[in-house]
Amino acid sequence: MILPVVAFGDPVLKRVADDIAPNTDVKALVANMFETMYAANGVGLAAPQIGQSIRLFVIDSTLMQEEGEEGKGYKLAFINPEILEETGELWGYEEGCLSIPGIRAQVQRRPVIKIKYFNENWEPQEMTFDGMNARVIQHEYDHIEGKLFIDYITQLRKQLLKGKLSDISKGKVDVSYRMKFPVK
Ligand code: NI
Repeated sequence: MILPVVAFGDPVLKRVADDIAPNTDVKALVANMFETMYAANGVGLAAPQIGQSIRLFVIDSTLMQEEGEEGKGYKLAFINPEILEETGELWGYEEGCLSIPGIRAQVQRRPVIKIKYFNENWEPQEMTFDGMNARVIQHEYDHIEGKLFIDYITQLRKQLLKGKLSDISKGKVDVSYRMKFPVK
């Protein structure tokens, strides 16, 4: 089932999400999140973006690899994840977000992360990711911490984007996927 993607301005995007009780069946939710993400041509989607303030996100970076990015892509669900370390020298990349359509900005992140999490079968995992895989995970992890990629940009740039962001909250945006707008 395709779910509406919550737009910028909804308080759920600013909330630190709650842990999911162990062994909760999240399989249907995970499937819906993948379906929603694919319908919107995204490479990652976090539960707050579908209005649920819980610590869960999905990624499919195999889609990016097909567009010529180096390395291996992953299709994974992360439940109650915890980033254990982020290492390497900061590197910048223009990020976007399904909740903030039409806006992109350079975000500096570290290239290597070690993360522990549960998969959708509640099996504990510990993995190291780098490059774009790490970046997508860091972006989605930020979502469950109530943080958006535009929180990294300068106040000046944010000021310049104010009108555009306000339009997104009101639904004054041209977008090809279903969204839910906080301001009517
Ligand atoms: Ni995002």
